[in-house]
Amino acid sequence: MKTLAVLSRKGGTGKTTLALHLAVAARNAGLSTLVVDLDRQQSSVEWRRQRGRCDILVEAVKPGALFTRQQDACREGIDLLIVDTGPSLEADVEQAIRCADLCAIVARPNFFDIKAVADTAALAHSFHRDVVFVLNQAPSRRGGFENPAVGEAVLTLRALGGVVAPIGLRSRVAYQQSVALGLTAQEHEPEGSAASEIAALWRWMESRLHTERAPTPRIPTFVSLAAERTARPF
Ligand SMILES: Nc1ncnc2c1ncn2[C@@H]1O[C@H](COP(=O)(O)OP(=O)(O)O)[C@@H](O)[C@H]1O
Ligand SMILES: [Mg+2]
Repeated sequence: MKTLAVLSRKGGTGKTTLALHLAVAARNAGLSTLVVDLDRQQSSVEWRRQRGRCDILVEAVKPGALFTRQQDACREGIDLLIVDTGPSLEADVEQAIRCADLCAIVARPNFFDIKAVADTAALAHSFHRDVVFVLNQAPSRRGGFENPAVGEAVLTLRALGGVVAPIGLRSRVAYQQSVALGLTAQEHEPEGSAASEIAALWRWMESRLHTERAPTPRIPTFVSLAAERTARPF
């Protein structure tokens, strides 16, 4: 079993959105997936209630019980444990980091979010965890060009010593509309752009999860055009 912790000290960066979309992508890839919700707001649990179906397991877990739940999940044959965290206390985040094979730190490409990730990244590094940054709500390209805020965010995040996932999530209403229905974008609009970027991000995350100490991947330039039809790297 692999454990992915989704982190950021700020609220509203997109932790729950990312956790749930990756959970559905993993389930679609045939993995039995459990999302544990450490956040007191319990957004993931709310989403599961709205969803009604039980194809994705989502449970509220107290941070102190995470390690035990992880061990039980392993025994139960869960393939992937995704830990959705709150914008919370260091101690809670530390529990998630300790349990994680991979820490995904979510940030929007703005000054406040990028400033806020440094401490979380440092904490994860202090436990020798693999750290990736995932940019969320990135503005769409215009005329084939990346918004300068995205380029600046990528450079700042790299300077913190993590790898920036080459595929992030653009700002798209599909993410908001789908979760309100207890779905994800790939279920709500399977042919949409959000669906293809999530598929591409999941492929990248999965390979990262299975790489013991992943080498830094080739860094795409902002104007490089990937093979992906709509999900282009930053
Ligand atoms: N890529 C995106 N595009 C548009 N809206 C988004 C995106 N990611 C998140 N949101 C919206 O931003 C808000 C906060 O997202 P959420 O996942 O709850 O953040 P967090 O869990 O970090 O507090 C929600 O209303 C969500 O629908
Ligand atoms: Mg949340």
